[in-house]
Amino acid sequence: MITINENFLKLQAGYLFPEIGRRVSAFAKDNPSADIIKLGIGDVTEPLVPSILEAMHKAVDDQANADTFKGYGPERGYSFLIDAIVEHEFKARGVDISPDEVFVSDGSKCDTGNVQEIFGRDNVVAVTDPVYPVYVDTNVMAGRTGDAAKDGRYEGLVYLPCTAENDFTPDLPDTSVDMIYLCYPNNPTGTVATKETLKKWVDYARENRALILFDAAYEAFISDDDIPHSIYEIDGAKEVAIEFRSYSKVIGFTGVRCGYIVVPKELKAYKSDGSAVEVNAIWNRRHSTKFNGASYVSQVGAAAYYTGQGRLEVKKVIDLYMANASYMIESLKEMGYEVYGGVNAPYVWLKTKDGMTSWELFDKFLNEAHVVGTPGSGFGASGEGYFRLSAFNNLARVKEAMERIAKL
Ligand code: MLT
Repeated sequence: MITINENFLKLQAGYLFPEIGRRVSAFAKDNPSADIIKLGIGDVTEPLVPSILEAMHKAVDDQANADTFKGYGPERGYSFLIDAIVEHEFKARGVDISPDEVFVSDGSKCDTGNVQEIFGRDNVVAVTDPVYPVYVDTNVMAGRTGDAAKDGRYEGLVYLPCTAENDFTPDLPDTSVDMIYLCYPNNPTGTVATKETLKKWVDYARENRALILFDAAYEAFISDDDIPHSIYEIDGAKEVAIEFRSYSKVIGFTGVRCGYIVVPKELKAYKSDGSAVEVNAIWNRRHSTKFNGASYVSQVGAAAYYTGQGRLEVKKVIDLYMANASYMIESLKEMGYEVYGGVNAPYVWLKTKDGMTSWELFDKFLNEAHVVGTPGSGFGASGEGYFRLSAFNNLARVKEAMERIAKL
């Protein structure tokens, strides 16, 4: 008899974004003439920039010629991309990362979901609340939690509330935890962590032999000079942190797929007898067993970002998205909403008015303004009463969305 992994049965309904998609499709079916503006899932809308496209076209042509054809590439990624990452993402910020600490992948959703499998099942996991649901759901699947309570919180997980009351800055846990997921700039609240905040977490992890899983998928949207882009800007972080980076939002690769994970050589995890094991070697073993490398074309495209021209072109697109965020912040404030985020991150996080729940506001915006956002409660119990709008769209559509919302 084939049995099922019953941990999967503990998962709440559907994954958040397919559930939103289902509701939007049902609405569109019933209202075929409605012009729906999507500010829900953080999916980019601008085309790839010319220098990245050109590089990718050339890479496709490489596949047409026996001399330049590429079959299986190195599982950990081509050195032309890894060397560019080391140089431009880390060395340029004073961080020393070696090429064999970087593992190129097909994106951060997979990396943040997969990483937990190399760590013991008994580890206690801490997540900020609200949180990107992948961190929670993959630990549920792995059996690190009990069942979910009515508010959606899983037994055994440690939730660190992030609300307006604590300025969206989680307190250190008051119980002992082993794996801590942090995402900065934050999805969904759009808020950031200062060096002091990150230092507090690095110190905690070093004192408690814990691990920080640091998702920096949105670092390219940081505009304030004093906000760290990488957790490795904090002394000692290489001993206790894995970092995730994604090309999805930065260079518009949500459809192309490419990202990477940094697993420092200094990072150790422990066997039950207390002896230390090098995490980099274990991840390398896992990665090269289960993954055959990101596609050559996507890696060539990602590497083109690191040319001067690539950076300039991408910056223009990021500025365009962030102009949308600024516009939304101003408009929503004028409408009397309390608004957070949206300055160093492409997400605007607002408090619902008049005690509405997140899903009530979702329905109101969809039904009456034909605007799609993401209900804050979909990211966790502490997201209840909040709502997320994504800046990924064009300014004309964002203006139209704000005008419609203002009329409600
Ligand atoms: C989001 O909207 O939160 C993200 O686009 C989801 C993701 O990156 O998987």
